[in-house]
Amino acid sequence: MPWGYFKIHFLLVSVYLIALSQPIKASDSEPDQPPIPAENLLVLTVATKETDGFLRFMQSVKHFKYTVKVLGNGLDWKGGDVTNSIGGGQKVRLLKEALETLADQKELVVLFTDSYDVIFSGGPEELLKKFQQTNHKVVFSAEALVWPDKRLADKYPVVRSGKRFLNSGGFIGYAHNVKDIVQQWTLQDNDDDQLFYTKIYIDASQRERINITLDHKSHIFQNLNGAIDEVVVNFDGSNARVVNTQYETYPILIHGNGPTKTQLNYFGNYVPDAWTPETGCTACNFDTIDLSTIDDYPMVTVGIFIEQPTPFLPEFFNRILALDYPTEKLSIFIHNSEVYHEKHIQKFWEQAKGVIRNFKVVGPEEPITQAEARNMGMHNCRQDEHCDYYFSIDADVVLTNPKTLKLLIEQNRKIIAPLVTRHGKLWSNFWGALSPDGYYARSEDYIDIVQGLRVGVWNIPYMANVYLIKGQTLRTELKERNHFILDRLDPDMALCRNAREMNFQRERDSPSSETFQMFRPPKGVFMYITNRHEFGRLISTANYNTSHYNNDLWQIFENPVDWKAKYINANYSRIFTENFFEQPCPDVFWFPVFSEQACDELVEEMEHFGQWSGSSHSDVRISGGYENVPTDDIHMTQIEMEKEWLHFIREFIAPVTLKVFAGYYTKGRALLNFVVKYTPSRQYFLRPHHDASTFTINIALNTKDQDFQGGGCRFSRYNCSVDSPRKGWSFMHPGRLTHLHEGLPVTNGTRYIAVSFIDP
Ligand SMILES: *[C@@H]1O[C@H](CO)[C@@H](O)[C@H](O)[C@H]1NC(C)=O
Ligand SMILES: *[C@@H]1O[C@H](CO)[C@@H](O)[C@H](O)[C@H]1NC(C)=O
Ligand SMILES: *[C@@H]1O[C@H](CO)[C@@H](O)[C@H](O)[C@H]1NC(C)=O
Ligand SMILES: *[C@@H]1O[C@H](CO)[C@@H](O)[C@H](O)[C@H]1NC(C)=O
Ligand SMILES: *[C@@H]1O[C@H](CO)[C@@H](O)[C@H](O)[C@H]1NC(C)=O
Repeated sequence: MPWGYFKIHFLLVSVYLIALSQPIKASDSEPDQPPIPAENLLVLTVATKETDGFLRFMQSVKHFKYTVKVLGNGLDWKGGDVTNSIGGGQKVRLLKEALETLADQKELVVLFTDSYDVIFSGGPEELLKKFQQTNHKVVFSAEALVWPDKRLADKYPVVRSGKRFLNSGGFIGYAHNVKDIVQQWTLQDNDDDQLFYTKIYIDASQRERINITLDHKSHIFQNLNGAIDEVVVNFDGSNARVVNTQYETYPILIHGNGPTKTQLNYFGNYVPDAWTPETGCTACNFDTIDLSTIDDYPMVTVGIFIEQPTPFLPEFFNRILALDYPTEKLSIFIHNSEVYHEKHIQKFWEQAKGVIRNFKVVGPEEPITQAEARNMGMHNCRQDEHCDYYFSIDADVVLTNPKTLKLLIEQNRKIIAPLVTRHGKLWSNFWGALSPDGYYARSEDYIDIVQGLRVGVWNIPYMANVYLIKGQTLRTELKERNHFILDRLDPDMALCRNAREMNFQRERDSPSSETFQMFRPPKGVFMYITNRHEFGRLISTANYNTSHYNNDLWQIFENPVDWKAKYINANYSRIFTENFFEQPCPDVFWFPVFSEQACDELVEEMEHFGQWSGSSHSDVRISGGYENVPTDDIHMTQIEMEKEWLHFIREFIAPVTLKVFAGYYTKGRALLNFVVKYTPSRQYFLRPHHDASTFTINIALNTKDQDFQGGGCRFSRYNCSVDSPRKGWSFMHPGRLTHLHEGLPVTNGTRYIAVSFIDP
């Protein structure tokens, strides 16, 4: 939306100019008024639990050096059961009690604010100055929605611009004036505080007597509900501020009221100065753990989920075993829903059983859903008081960083995921924002985070595939068992929604649900994603066909990075960087291309297929049906690998021709691609011949003196032979005219080579 972007950009520029002038602007109405000293300000808030939201509030308090008194700390909310609904009345009662004595201090200014869903974005001096500029004794925050009694809408004073209605989540005033208001409270703890304040405000005589106004244009209070589109983060050097672009104001308190908790979380990633382009992430090192100073590493239960046929699973398991973490501290829980993968798990188990503390597999024979499997895995940790962390990882996660587990633990968050992305795509394992119906929405910073342009630890509404949760959190905030089941959401969405807003679950069904949302302490557990390190990637499980024997061989299109890592020789790239190839005979080039694994799997695949041609001259597989120099072979077309093989030639052979044949570039057309088998009991040599190709590649698939004796290749014209082929290495030589060659006899065992006639 270019127009929208332009508009916001324009507003930001104008806001910036205003901001420059704002701090030095004196009060319009009373220029001589001396500033209120910061020590006259006291912040009052009510909190009964140290939720993540409360701790974040307190961090912002500390950042700006506010003085805070927390009321009700350690108290439980009254009547915490479902039938006894809870209003904000308790907050008024606690404030009333506190002001009994505080109001004696004549100059005292109190700021009363919610704290579970509030962040400070500015400091006390600025706050007091703005309060003075209102020229009122008590200032309440304002919003566009009438709550809780819509019938009162007409009774509010009309405003020409700005928000018209009172929100009691934040207000500031002289202590004795605020006392004047709250001492009128005679109601119950579960009565509505906002209604109480509203009735006083809309009563013109009280409003004027006490001298109350609303902060209509968010100079001080920004309620996010209904105002999301007005608010952005603005950076100014090492400063991150929330800006209201509609009124061009810099609000001091940001309140994620109603259903705007995830937006508040987003702002909290930047404000106050948690991340700026200049400083990077300053919040990242807050409250971390240093594992290097710990003798006894925490116990971790690793939950592994194989929920569909997944390529490169053996490599996945190797990486689990290669995690830089003491294996005796690891327990493993695997849910595997695929019979195809049982052989891989068997092999993993054999490697792991001696070293891993505990090993448990729930296989495809168990008729359970993915959600139930995830509940089960998580519950293993929850139930085991020794389990310090639950590390959940899906089989499509390629953790290339063996330190991942340590790094996540050291970050010390209740729930944290490492960023993993699909290679070359913007697809990742988190969402930066939610759509109104709870699905994916792109946050303004999503692409920057995925691409590593903004590096930090980010509070986000959704993560999947791989994450670490504290055992302690599973035994407290997330102590119920079935977090992966909620409505018809998929399991990860259910978990994240439960973590975000668990406490609202019961309330959704209650008649006055919004009252609940506003006044019960939100228990939401923050979820973070970190991109402070490179952790790995996600593979694609789409188009994974398991009808062959070694199915990863076919993954060159779908997962090229993993295909290359598994099948291309580790020395291949050295061909280009340091001329890592040989020329054993004139115009015969010899270079590494396949890994051992590629060789072994290809041979296995061919033997599994088994239909060797028997080196007959008549051959229905080729046009004309007659082969002059037949070999005992299987064509790539027969195992349905032709497309993949040709792609391999284009990707990995063509660059070599360009290098060794001085600028000759092949489009990689190859009509005949096949694997040949030489063994004494069948065909064991090939008489001298030319190939029907511009050039030929010939890859040795096994090892002389280990798998066979004899063998090799002789080029007659040059009286030159290579009799010790190297496994995984390929010859490349011209096919016609000059390079008459023969396959030397194999005297024992079996020799395999893969051959392509290119550009015939
Ligand atoms: C509120 O009090 C200020 C003095 O602090 C006064 O100037 C102003 O007129 C009062 N407003 C109302 C509505 O009474
Ligand atoms: C898998 O490959 C086999 C053999 O090529 C083919 O018959 C089958 O249709 C493929 N299955 C899928 C799901 O693509
Ligand atoms: C790569 O080459 C080095 C010698 O330069 C050798 O030691 C190593 O084994 C080779 N690696 C592979 C995978 O062939
Ligand atoms: C071919 O080379 C071998 C040694 O490698 C030598 O003994 C033989 O005489 C050569 N033959 C010809 C025809 O040059
Ligand atoms: C042939 O190979 C087998 C094992 O691969 C070995 O036991 C045997 O001794 C070999 N025979 C000769 C003649 O080298």
